[in-house]
Formats: sequence, C-alpha cells, structure tokens
Amino acid sequence: MNATRFVLDEDRIPKSWYNIAADLPSPAPAVLHPGTHQPVGPDDLAPLFPMSLIGQEVATEREVEIPAPIRNVYRMWRPSPLYRASRLEKALDTPARIYYKYEGVSPAGSHKPNTAVAQAFYNREAGVQRISTETGAGQWGSSLAFAGALFGIDVQVFMVRISYDQKPYRRALMQTYGARCVASPSEETESGRAILAKRPEHPGSLGIAISEAVEVAAKRDDTKYALGSVLNHVLLHQTVIGLEAIDQMAMAGDDPDIVIGCAGGGSNFAGLAFPFIGLQLRGGKKRRIMAVEPAACPSLTRGKYAYDFGDTAHLTPLARMHTLGSTFTPPGFHAGGLRYHGMAPLVSHLKELDIIEARAYHQNRCFEAGVQFARAEGIVPAPESNHAVAAAIDEALDAKQAGQSKVILFNLSGHGHFDMQAYTEYFSGKLVDQDYDEADLELALAGLPAV
Ligand SMILES: Cc1ncc(COP(=O)(O)O)c(C=O)c1O
Repeated sequence: MNATRFVLDEDRIPKSWYNIAADLPSPAPAVLHPGTHQPVGPDDLAPLFPMSLIGQEVATEREVEIPAPIRNVYRMWRPSPLYRASRLEKALDTPARIYYKYEGVSPAGSHKPNTAVAQAFYNREAGVQRISTETGAGQWGSSLAFAGALFGIDVQVFMVRISYDQKPYRRALMQTYGARCVASPSEETESGRAILAKRPEHPGSLGIAISEAVEVAAKRDDTKYALGSVLNHVLLHQTVIGLEAIDQMAMAGDDPDIVIGCAGGGSNFAGLAFPFIGLQLRGGKKRRIMAVEPAACPSLTRGKYAYDFGDTAHLTPLARMHTLGSTFTPPGFHAGGLRYHGMAPLVSHLKELDIIEARAYHQNRCFEAGVQFARAEGIVPAPESNHAVAAAIDEALDAKQAGQSKVILFNLSGHGHFDMQAYTEYFSGKLVDQDYDEADLELALAGLPAV
C-alpha cells in the first residue's frame, strides 16, 4: 500500500507568504480610482483597510514575513495534510497518481481562515474594533467570525440571500463565533434598500453583499472592511497552501504535472498554484495549472477581460479582470462561493499570459464527482471543491485512455458538512444545470465602465 498522508510538523508552517508579483513577466494592470481612472493610492483605500494590508496589496518583494501571532493561530490546524488518493485511483482504474491538499481541517472547514486570521490580526494591530464583510456560501463569513473571536473584533456579515436560506447552519456557526449575520440585500444599507425596492425577492449576489459591507465600512469610523478572495493580499495569505504542498510532494517523492483548483474569486486556486507557478517562472519545470469554475458563472472561460467594479453598487475601485459584468446575478446554483462576477486580477493576468488554463463544469457533474470521491476517500467535499474534484477525475480518466501515467495535484478547499441539503437535492434529481443567461450577460457587459 502506498503512503496515504503526508504530514509536516508545526515548525514547517511557512515563515513567509509567497508574493507572485516578484516573479511575473509583466506586472498586473493597476487598480483604478472609479472617478479619476488614475491608479488608486493608499489614501483612497484607507477608509476600508488598515495600512499594513494596503501595503501587501502593492508589495513587490518575493517573501512577506508571517507575523508570529498569525503563525501561532495557524498551528491550530496547519500544516494541513496532503493525501494520496489511492482509493480513488483504484476506483477509476487509472495509471495517474492523484494527490490532494486538504484545507477542510481548519476550524471553519475551508481554506478561508488562512486569510481571515491574517486580516483580523492586522486590523487588531491598527486598533480596528469592527469589520464588515460579505459571504456567499457562508465559509468566508464563518472564517472571519472565527478569526474575529480570536482577536476580539466584532464581525458583521452580509450573507447572500439564497445561501442564507439554503444554509441555516452556516448562519448558526457565525453566531456561535459571535458574529452578526444578515441576509443580503438587506434594509440596513442604501445599496440594499435600492435593490429591494426594485426586486423584493432578490436572491442576492456576492457583488451586492460586497456593496453593503463596503458601504457600512465607508460610513463608520470604527469599522473596516474585509474581503475573502480576489484581492492581492488575500491570495498572498493563501500561498501557505502551495508552499506546504511543495514540501509534501517532495516527501511523497512525486512532482505534479498538473495542479488544479476550483475558482470563485480565485483565492484557493492561487493559494495552491502560485508557489508552483513561481518555481516555473524562476526557471523550473513547466506544469499545467488549471482553474475550474461553474458553467453557470464562467468568468474566466466566458467573461470579458476588462476594467470593472468589484461590487454591484459601484462603490469599489476598478480592477482589470475577467468579468461577467458587476450587475450580473448568477443563477442560484449550489456552489455559493463560486457565484462571483469577477476573477482575481492576478489570476486573470496569468490567464491572459497563458500561464494558466481554465475549464467550466455544470453542477450535476460536480456532485457526481464529489460523491465518487466521498465513496472512495471518505471526505465529503464542499460543492465548490467538487469542481476541482471533477477536473482531477477527468484528467485521471484521460491518462487512463492515453495509457499514460501522470501526477495530479488538486486543492480540496473545504468539506461539505454544511452542504448536505445540496447533496440531498442532487440525490433526488432536483438540481438543474443552468447556463448563464446570454441576454442578462449582454446587459451586464453593456454596463462596463468606459476606461
Ligand atoms: C470551500 C470553498 N472553496 C472555494 C471557494 C471559492 O473561493 P475562492 O475562489 O476565493 O477560493 C469558496 C468560497 O466561499 C469555498 O467556500
């Protein structure tokens, strides 16, 4: 029997995050002020973020030291395990060797605490008492709620209405950690009220929830804002995943030919992939690096690479990214964490440079893959993570057909213990595979800012 689990000691938690900006062949386009269309400066962002995080957003050094208090919290679950999926390989009868990095061992059940803890720490250092944020599936909201509890910060979460209704236990988890969670669009903000006035039953979207959370932070001196994905500093914090995985693959005596992550805003994908891409950009082995997204919200595979707002009410700066348009409301499919109109600018830039590839899947295929994975490996993946599982399985089946061995590494970004309603609907054949609506998309893209 092959070794199954590759585990590093606590003292192997990375001491620095990896900043891909240092190795990019060309810099990612600047983020612009929505009024002047000039690059934003630190002062523009100061109402929303502490200066330490603004500094990380534009940092150019390759390594950014992880402060000891953050590493001490990481010790609660890091280094996370890397598994060889031998039982899945057997079930697929594939010559491929499949590995997965499992981020579901964190207290909140996903990779999101890697950045939530860092963001809560830097806010605490800056004397911030309150943080507002949005959440899709509830993974990010519960992660920030957990981090807020550790660092003594009040957390208010705007949760996308459809997930709020689908996932009452994620709400209860946030409450358990001491956060206040409201359904978005809400009556608590101007942007929420404006949307409800037009459509009282609005299912919400991450773009709307971001508008609400940003509005609260911009209006209150005691409150800052935190984002769970997309931004450079969030992707930076997630690189602990890939840095550990590089060491663990070496322990396993293998080297991945293909690295896969699901992509909503891009943070878990980047967390695993960027350290491997960095090796390549510094002259190392070329690998296939694949981001996998939902067919119902396909920003990387079908979106336009353009400057756009990060939110629906247009309160944020403009970022150049693959976008479906900031007013696009994706259909209510069951991977709430992947329902975002845009992609991280750094991930988008790498796609434009042809350093990464992207693929989109319908939700029934993803649940089928997740169930097959659970029956072989025991872990029930989050619906978001199932996108990576599906791609890994397809790559392993391609290897079988080609009669070739290949090494596949994917990120199992979270467990699905709070998502069993979605699995129940899958089993009862109720899940609908939706494509995004072409007409809605046209409309949303027509509203892109002229830059
Ligand atoms: C388990 C899980 N995986 C993936 C994602 C997608 O986010 P990102 O692309 O930033 O990793 C989410 C978002 O909520 C999530 O909860």
